[in-house]
Amino acid sequence: AAETPPHHYTIGFSQCTNGDAWRLAMLAGMKKELSFYPNVSFRMKDARYSSALQKQQIQEFLREGIDLLIVSANESEPVTPVIEEVYNRGIPVVILDRRISSQLFTAYVGGNNVEVGRTAGRYAATLLGQRGRVLEILGAPGSSPAVDRHRGFADALAAYPGLQLVAQVNSNWERPSVLERLPAVLRAHPEVELIFAHNDRLALGAYQVCKELGRQRRVKIIGVDGLPGSRGGIQLVQDGVINATLLYSPGGEEAIRTAMRILQKQPFAKENILGTMVIDSTNALTMKMQTEQLANQQQDIQRQQQLLQEQRDTYASQQTVLYVLAAA
Ligand code: FRU
Repeated sequence: AAETPPHHYTIGFSQCTNGDAWRLAMLAGMKKELSFYPNVSFRMKDARYSSALQKQQIQEFLREGIDLLIVSANESEPVTPVIEEVYNRGIPVVILDRRISSQLFTAYVGGNNVEVGRTAGRYAATLLGQRGRVLEILGAPGSSPAVDRHRGFADALAAYPGLQLVAQVNSNWERPSVLERLPAVLRAHPEVELIFAHNDRLALGAYQVCKELGRQRRVKIIGVDGLPGSRGGIQLVQDGVINATLLYSPGGEEAIRTAMRILQKQPFAKENILGTMVIDSTNALTMKMQTEQLANQQQDIQRQQQLLQEQRDTYASQQTVLYVLAAA
């Protein structure tokens, strides 16, 4: 029987921001997985941390026509209605990393942020011998990882009467907001011995502020993300800038895999949770070596794909020569 050509699909990706290494790793993972599906057009719109723009861009996707939407919601509440509209029109929705405040979506891919916060809380208790004052730097208000990481962290701390959360600093997920707001809060709370920052960029900012105030030896720091690379969280742990980071995988590959299962009418899970773990001085080197090896293998695969393409091009041009000769 003749093979039917694969169906053509268009995937729209509404990204809350595309301006940091974690988001770029997510996109790289998506592109890697997409390279197996030449029948898919992929379009990304970057909302640059604006929920209003994200809403507009999702409406644009609806006008342009998409077969599936992948979305990381900048803030849960404001973008929920438009995502529900997409879903209600029968277009599958994959929520990636940042959730909406509705169950009207097809699948979720990403970490369990309550668990991330809880693990950070338990690790803080170990670091401090179950007693001490703690400060938390939260991600942007209204974004689901910030809400959930805080919930998990507070939850875990509640089990240790000797541990107190004495201060909180809000951020917009980016380091400059910490450099601006943390100094005053830290000066007002000289007793703080540990800072839990909702990502490694904020954690690095916290370290810089502590250093400026001459407190870097006294204050322990925990971050989130654990990215590889020279400026990633694994390296920050290795360099002793932070004590630990919680692995939080960007999940680009998994998002595309789930999207393709949905589009091809294969079985899939609604909740696809990516695990977390503590990266500290005991395992940072192992993590670093493993991620470097993975990156090398990835490069090898890309080189092979390029070679294959070159061979296909050569073959195609030889075919053309043959046709021309035959016609002569
Ligand atoms: C990247 C990021 C990560 C964080 C995630 C939460 O844009 O800020 O650092 O873990 O988003 O959604």
